[in-house]
Amino acid sequence: MGAMFEFDIQHRDGRARVARFHTPRGAVTTPMFMPVGTQGTVKGISPQELLDIGSQMILGNTYHLMLRPGEALVEAHGGLPGFTAYPRPFLTDSGGFQVMSLGHMRKITEQGVTFKSHLDGSLVDLTPERSIQVQQALGADVIMAFDECPPYPAERDYIQRSLERTERWLARSLNAKTNDHQALFAIVQGGIHPDLRQQSLDLTLPYQTPGFAIGGLAVGEPKDAMYPAVAFTAERLPEHKPRYLMGVGHPEDLVAGIALGVDMFDCVYPTRTGRFGYALTDDGRLNMNSSAPRRQLEPMDPDCDCYACRHYTRAYLAHLVKAEEMLAPRMLSLHNLRYLHRLVERARAAISRGEFHMWADGWAQRYFKGQI
Ligand code: GUN
Ligand code: ZN
Repeated sequence: MGAMFEFDIQHRDGRARVARFHTPRGAVTTPMFMPVGTQGTVKGISPQELLDIGSQMILGNTYHLMLRPGEALVEAHGGLPGFTAYPRPFLTDSGGFQVMSLGHMRKITEQGVTFKSHLDGSLVDLTPERSIQVQQALGADVIMAFDECPPYPAERDYIQRSLERTERWLARSLNAKTNDHQALFAIVQGGIHPDLRQQSLDLTLPYQTPGFAIGGLAVGEPKDAMYPAVAFTAERLPEHKPRYLMGVGHPEDLVAGIALGVDMFDCVYPTRTGRFGYALTDDGRLNMNSSAPRRQLEPMDPDCDCYACRHYTRAYLAHLVKAEEMLAPRMLSLHNLRYLHRLVERARAAISRGEFHMWADGWAQRYFKGQI
């Protein structure tokens, strides 16, 4: 399996790197942003559109898909690529995180998590074994260990007991896996405490999984607490394996994470903020609900090559937003995803030239000055 999930570093600049990550459904170039397709669809965006804007790998969720439509139906389509008609690599999250943020009446024990389905109120058990069974049926190229992500804030003692349990769940996740064409990534927890991060690293690194995720962040802690935790963890992860910062993020978090040696990111932010009427640009976030764009005849982002920016004025799109037309959330989501893909493309090019820090400083200066 080692050869299948090779991670070839091509350029380095400080701690940032550009690499090719090989999966059974093809190689991807990192750093990359992965759109979130919770229900087996990136909300409002077709697979062809995802290919057109440069998406390389998309996310699916164990929690949602096991409840509806059930993993057996997805498996009957040959897994997520057949079910969704997205022909590129997939990654699935293991479900524990979504249970905690969406499930009702959840109860965590050593065995796993019991919760009430948000769909019909039935009681459902999710264990490491069940999560891996579902993720194998969904057929993603990268699957995640079943972990616990404590909320923020949480008691230190709780975070410590939780990261110890996450290690036992990692061992059970690996034992439950019965194929070798899916890479199972371990998840490092420990909140924002360096000593707990270290303890989680000490427990997790010996498993030598083909990639490692940094979990437990972007759960409400301030950014000046998140970045040091990312830095501490990333620099202690193996050089030659992908590092995945889960649930991140905003444009500035991608640039900061890349500087700290992170390779993979995912977040609902670009699609969610697009549905709310906001467009990401190098000058900050443009509010298409406000009155100014309704009179502006330029594209949302003149630097962007997405369909919306090539064809439509701000005035037209702001009109669609105001009229609550369904093309509006589609076009804003498409643009925001393209913005994040273009952001990591520019970061990769800057790393390759050995000019990442200069590029990142210039980008941040304009982004934070703008905030149109
Ligand atoms: N998504 C965002 N953060 C996390 C995490 O800590 N664990 C998992 N499994 N998914 C996440
Ligand atoms: Zn655009």
